[in-house]
Amino acid sequence: MEPAARQSRLPDPARILVTGGAGFIGSAYVRDVLSRRDGTRITVLDKLTYAGNRANLARVESDGEQAARLRFVEGDIADPVVVGTLMDDVDAVVNFAAESHVDRSILEPEAFLVTGVIGVHVLLEAVRAQDAKGRHARFLQVSTDEVYGSVEQGHSKETDALAPRSPYSAAKAAGEHLARSYHVTYGTDVVVTRGSNTYGPYHHPEKLIPLFVTNAIDDGPLPLYGDGLQRRDWLFVGDHAGAIEHVLRRGVPGETYNIPGEAELANREVVERLLARLGKPWSLVRRVEDRPGHDRRYAMDGSKLHALGWRNRTSFDDGLAATVDWFVDNEAWWRAARSGDWQSYYDRQYGARLAASTEASRG
Ligand code: NAD
Ligand code: DAU
Repeated sequence: MEPAARQSRLPDPARILVTGGAGFIGSAYVRDVLSRRDGTRITVLDKLTYAGNRANLARVESDGEQAARLRFVEGDIADPVVVGTLMDDVDAVVNFAAESHVDRSILEPEAFLVTGVIGVHVLLEAVRAQDAKGRHARFLQVSTDEVYGSVEQGHSKETDALAPRSPYSAAKAAGEHLARSYHVTYGTDVVVTRGSNTYGPYHHPEKLIPLFVTNAIDDGPLPLYGDGLQRRDWLFVGDHAGAIEHVLRRGVPGETYNIPGEAELANREVVERLLARLGKPWSLVRRVEDRPGHDRRYAMDGSKLHALGWRNRTSFDDGLAATVDWFVDNEAWWRAARSGDWQSYYDRQYGARLAASTEASRG
């Protein structure tokens, strides 16, 4: 017999542990929730990998009222000692922490597994230990549309089988399977979200949109993989963060919710549009060797999330304009993000590709 699901309603104001809260989407979530000024308290646990950046929380930390409700802890979700010390007095854990870049997972998969599997296990054990003490905490696992694999036709539903095809998406699938298994086995209050390709301010410059925008600002080459006809469904970061908060508050224990962007486009089309906003020419685009195992298309059905009462607010045209303009206005931020291992990663990922690149035909 399955254990009874624990209650899922968060107290108001709530105390939330946000792991990976110094990254792209996690920091947007923290900024948005704290700016409501409704008393919610947040502890951020972040390892500050190359992708984590304290500056992403600067707006909150410079506001006295919001800063008083934020605690920042540098640490690893795979470290049970650190995690254990943070669990008392927590009403919910929202787990954004992950290695998030598919190309890096192809170069070096191990960190993806440690954070995506062991890290999730450590967090779930800590939530289970709280339940055993009679202190309920809800666990939200932030997952991705990539767990469905390449979707040649139609739109993935939450009940579809998972078919991940990269070390990144395989680790993400493992993480969410583990989370649901705790719900079934121990009655842990778990919800899972599967978000689509997210873009917006503070996006690390390794990903398609910020890489191409920042390279184009410098009149550098834009390395388009293969024929550039791969399709992604673009979701503005504020909508992704808002949908996660909505599921945290209203999601049914044990359930999984797709978060589509409702803006499916071929990569070429995205590049055309960002170049138009920047006023830069297509001649910067180079056709380079494809990503191994490159998923052709992601597309999800959003009816379950709609039925829960969530609607995205930002169109792709508005979101892209705001994003491109943010990168133009925040050059110090993205130049700093291209430090540390950036150059060696860039040379490894793009050096030979760009040396062998050809002109990318238009259209
Ligand atoms: P990101 O790489 O910008 O941020 C990840 C954050 O996690 C960083 O701050 C990093 O320092 C931290 N982190 C990494 N390993 C850690 C560890 N072991 N312990 C503690 N902190 C650790 O990623 P993102 O794009 O903001 O993605 C956040 C989450 O959303 C990830 O789980 C990702 O799989 C998921 N997701 C991302 C997208 C997208 O398009 N970006 C879409 C769907 C789902
Ligand atoms: O779909 C959700 C996923 O979206 C998230 O789970 C991941 O964390 C996130 O990184 C993102 O994965 P993608 O691999 O789709 O995103 P990326 O920005 O790396 O690539 C988007 C598309 O652009 C993809 O088809 C590959 C292509 N691309 C990417 C880069 C970095 C290029 O053509 N050239 C590039 O240099």
